[in-house]
Amino acid sequence: MKVCVIGTGYVGLVTGVCLSEIGHNIICVDNDSEKIKKLLSGVMPIYEPGLDILVLKNLNSKNLQFTTDISSAIKSQDIIFICVGTPPRPDGSADLQYVEEVAKQIGNNINSYKIVVNKSTVPIGSGDWVSIIINDNINSNNNLNSNDSNYDPNNNLKNDSKNNLKNNNNSLNKKSDIVSFKFDVVSNPEFLREGTAIADTFFPDRIVLGSSSKEAINIMKKLYEPIINQSFKVCDELLKILPNTKNTSPIPVVETDLVSAEMIKYAANSFLATKISFINEIANICEKAGADIKKVAYGIGLDSRIGPKFLNAGIGWGGSCFPKDVSALTKIAAEYGISTQLLNAVINVNSQQRHKVVQKVQEMLKIVKGKSIGILGISFKPNTDDTRDAPAITIINNLINLGAKIKAYDPVVKKIPESLNPKTIFCPKVEDVFDGADLIILATEWEEFANLDFCRLSKKMREKNLIDGRNFLDKEKLLSLGFNYIGIGR
Ligand code: UDX
Repeated sequence: MKVCVIGTGYVGLVTGVCLSEIGHNIICVDNDSEKIKKLLSGVMPIYEPGLDILVLKNLNSKNLQFTTDISSAIKSQDIIFICVGTPPRPDGSADLQYVEEVAKQIGNNINSYKIVVNKSTVPIGSGDWVSIIINDNINSNNNLNSNDSNYDPNNNLKNDSKNNLKNNNNSLNKKSDIVSFKFDVVSNPEFLREGTAIADTFFPDRIVLGSSSKEAINIMKKLYEPIINQSFKVCDELLKILPNTKNTSPIPVVETDLVSAEMIKYAANSFLATKISFINEIANICEKAGADIKKVAYGIGLDSRIGPKFLNAGIGWGGSCFPKDVSALTKIAAEYGISTQLLNAVINVNSQQRHKVVQKVQEMLKIVKGKSIGILGISFKPNTDDTRDAPAITIINNLINLGAKIKAYDPVVKKIPESLNPKTIFCPKVEDVFDGADLIILATEWEEFANLDFCRLSKKMREKNLIDGRNFLDKEKLLSLGFNYIGIGR
């Protein structure tokens, strides 16, 4: 099938590349010409295990193309994925300017029936809003309408537009005597975790398809058929990297309306963030009461109603999705006059976890000013170079404000993120952070850190203090090596 993916960020790139691998004809579009040039020469803009293998393979087989020419891509393909960013605005609501721009481009270039797939995480009701913008731009191209796009982002749709949609049953026709172009909008949220995004695409827990058009949902099921039936072949190069989690039974498909699909995405991320904040709150109680959160999490996780995943206590959640989506859901709720007391607490517990680490540093070192602190890991979680809202960054910045000298090492993050205090010394080798350190903080649980020779490295330190922000290291071993070890909730 002929697919255009607009936006080559995490979601767009992984989605496009994986769809090309299962045999579809994919054109990935981005307005960043440098990025497109790099992709065409096989250089990946993000660190994601296996991505480079699939890009090169499918560029060679011509299943995959990269371009900056959005008009031609929209015209030539039948299914258009919107995968552009929806970054948080200062008030926490989602910034929809990029989605809006793409919807206008679709309206301007539509030349046959298209399915427009919203994969960007957008506020509830945005599927309808995208329909309106596309329709308005089809019309304005034909000089049938004024350029009033009849929408108010993050707010209710204007009445005229609502009626217009209703009358057209969400399959909008260009009001021209000459040609009639129809399109349907589908919400198909992504549930990709950075670092395992390719496995998550090929072996998903479910596929969610929301639309008022049964025809569009059926076409989307056809697109995903090899994944739904798990009938595709994983190439040998990828098998070495991916966990072989191929399912024997078909992947469940949730067929629903647009709004419910949009809500599934927000509710899933908010629930997972809630689970983590819950276990972090329990960890804080464990710490005072003398219980071990690792045992407690194991004990509750064995209850099949609770499950073991997302119960690792630590310095909290970050990244590009949880912080943005939980905040956006509270904003959406506020528009309906609903106060999200639980979600507000989830956010507060998460930001406290970062500050608690700084308090632990103060308890350990007493005076922070002038002390040398080594940080293991900068990315918000392992197997990614993403540092967006990474707990490590907040912790480092706060410690620098208190006068600490920070040396940091990350296996893949090699450029100082903008949000990081530039006084941070980036070390090329992990042992450098131990040199003369008064304290080491593990902020990201990279596998590499589990295998460090702490006996040798401890000899480089001034004081053997260690805070394990992810309860990842071997506590007993570190204690036996003479470390003053502090974890989270144990
Ligand atoms: C998340 C969702 O999992 C994915 O479905 C969605 O579409 C995008 O957002 P991602 O942000 O890549 O994926 O990371 P994830 O593995 O979910 O972890 C999110 C954060 O929670 C990380 O900061 C991680 O360190 C933290 N976390 C996770 C914990 O602190 N404890 C846990 O038990 C699990």
